[in-house]
Amino acid sequence: MASPTSTQSQSSATAYRLSREHDELRALVRQLADERIAPRAAEIDAKAEFPWDLKQLLAEHDLLGTGFEERHGGTALDGIGQAIVVEEVARADATTSLIPVIQKLGALPIMLAGSEEQKDRYFPRLASGEWLPAFALTEAGAGSDVASVRMRARRDGEDYVLSGTKRFITHGSVANVLTVFALTDPEAGGRKGMSGFIVETDTSGFSVARLEHKMGIRGSPTAELTFDDVRVPAANRLGEEGDGFKIAMSTLDRSRLAIASQAVGIAQGATDAALAYAAERRQFGERIVDFQAIQFMLADMASQTEAARQLTYAACARVDDDDPNLAYWTSAAKLIAGDTAMRATTDAVQIFGGYGYITEYPVERMMRDAKITQLYEGTQQIQRLVIARRLLARAGIESRGR
Ligand code: CAA
Repeated sequence: MASPTSTQSQSSATAYRLSREHDELRALVRQLADERIAPRAAEIDAKAEFPWDLKQLLAEHDLLGTGFEERHGGTALDGIGQAIVVEEVARADATTSLIPVIQKLGALPIMLAGSEEQKDRYFPRLASGEWLPAFALTEAGAGSDVASVRMRARRDGEDYVLSGTKRFITHGSVANVLTVFALTDPEAGGRKGMSGFIVETDTSGFSVARLEHKMGIRGSPTAELTFDDVRVPAANRLGEEGDGFKIAMSTLDRSRLAIASQAVGIAQGATDAALAYAAERRQFGERIVDFQAIQFMLADMASQTEAARQLTYAACARVDDDDPNLAYWTSAAKLIAGDTAMRATTDAVQIFGGYGYITEYPVERMMRDAKITQLYEGTQQIQRLVIARRLLARAGIESRGR
């Protein structure tokens, strides 16, 4: 038997190292998050209201333009810098961390496939936080199976006319501009016949049909959007007709890192809260932090969170390098970080005992918030599919398995 092919990633070992600037950035965002964001988190969750004040706060501190170039008013942080911002905000409040996450996600299709004119038109307002974007791909019947999108974009002279419905669109109701994916060639199907468009939400025919009532990230509006013959100029098409599926996939290959960062932040927040509580809480005449049962749980939470963080940073470096294998890394980071967030928040509730189950303490909110990181931007099963396909391809094994 021939020796087996190594399943290790074949891409050159991209080095990453945290710099003094990264440490300073983390300290700055952590202070802002501790002082201004954490105290608002319970109220945002209870009222399920978008935190416009915190959007403003992040914009004023240049934390919404981290993924944009300086010529567009952004701060052009590297991938790890962008991850640190999301992580530190998520440590305080997952809902608020979605603001920088979606600022990048909504703009990524334009970053990857937009013309210079499109970038100049939209990026300054997105980098400053004046405008909010959203990424409108998912439909009621097209979640994991992106290719089954049904929304239509019919060419009409110098315009396209969009009709259909999008569902589960994060920030869909507060966005000023959307990157939308629709079929320009229904016969060719979603994989070959889909195209991407930039749609401003004040365009006639666009409306928000409803908002979802959710388990977690409750201050982040998740909207159903209706497009009733929405007319957009052909100049708003992203790339060529038929490029849509690949633009959407390339976007997700990169944006999944932001969800990994969010998950690391949630896990860290839960670990920190559980440690602080365990050091205060007394039972059987002792602090519960002195019990080995609690120490072992904290040790698992801290080490797994650190492992997820380091994998996320390694993936950031691959994205910065445009590594051909970056999707393997970003899906692996999202998979490990999402599961870590769920496990760490569940353990945090356990350490808090009955107090963990009530809204007086933050860990029940963190546990509800953590769940979404295993679902959106591709379920954990989709991440495994992306990873496995690349693993098999590297080993030269053909498979059409789903
Ligand atoms: N980059 C570029 N091209 C890609 C690609 C990628 N990552 N993945 C696939 N393609 C290409 C393939 O090469 C193929 O091209 P050819 O026909 O030229 O060979 C074509 O696209 C079709 O590929 P597949 O047959 O592999 O596609 P598939 O239908 O099996 O789907 C999938 C692949 C990975 C399952 C994909 O559907 C997927 O990622 N699903 C999950 C969707 C998802 O993550 N949704 C999240 C919504 S956004 C969100 O959640 C945001 C939020 O709220 C915060």
